[in-house]
Amino acid sequence: MHFFSLSVAALLLSTASATPHHKRATTLIPKTVFDSTASFEQYFTYNYPWGGTTHNGGARMDKAHVSISPPGTLTLTAQPAKNQPPATHAGKQIPINYLSGAVGAKQHFTVPTGGGLLFSASVLATTTKGTWPAFWLTAVSGWPPEVDMAEWKGSGKISFNTFNTSSSAQTKDVAYPDPGAFHTVKCQLRDNGGGVVQVKYWLDGTEVTTHYGRDYVGKELYL
Ligand SMILES: *[C@@H]1O[C@H](CO)[C@@H](O)[C@H](O)[C@H]1NC(C)=O
Repeated sequence: MHFFSLSVAALLLSTASATPHHKRATTLIPKTVFDSTASFEQYFTYNYPWGGTTHNGGARMDKAHVSISPPGTLTLTAQPAKNQPPATHAGKQIPINYLSGAVGAKQHFTVPTGGGLLFSASVLATTTKGTWPAFWLTAVSGWPPEVDMAEWKGSGKISFNTFNTSSSAQTKDVAYPDPGAFHTVKCQLRDNGGGVVQVKYWLDGTEVTTHYGRDYVGKELYL
């Protein structure tokens, strides 16, 4: 069994304010969101937020693989599974050999003109080969935008990616020490002018990289 455990919070950063040195922020997802199943279910749905239990990998998402345990932490568990029907993605059949867990925020997130979004999470992520835990944003309508605020592709590294098109993405893979411990990730998206969003990524409080996403301002995102 492989585990992905996390706690999260999200803020809406203010648009240009009358008092320049005073930053205003609105809480979109409170830090207490995983304190109980009731609180979790207020903010999140089971499986993928666009509906459905499969995507582009070899696992089917299953509510039974999602738990609030211990309180304050969401835990997703992956396990081998037999006799699963294949998934279909982009016209291709993908064999399903695992059951796993996914959750999506009920609300959609949008970088407003002049404003931004800030996501933070504390994560315990497996780096076992074949696993792909991820904490990410993707377009509600069409694609991209996609911002991979953190993903682990079973290589032992942690990856941060921002897509302009499927063939044009900024990617940054860095060492991921001590996968057996919780790490913090933070991602800030800010209107940078001209429809471009500046995306900054942090790992354990250290800024890792800055990317820019074209035509990201005003686009609704799933978490
Ligand atoms: C994506 O678009 C932004 C805005 O035009 C640009 O700054 C960035 O370099 C582009 N990324 C890639 C990988 O070309």
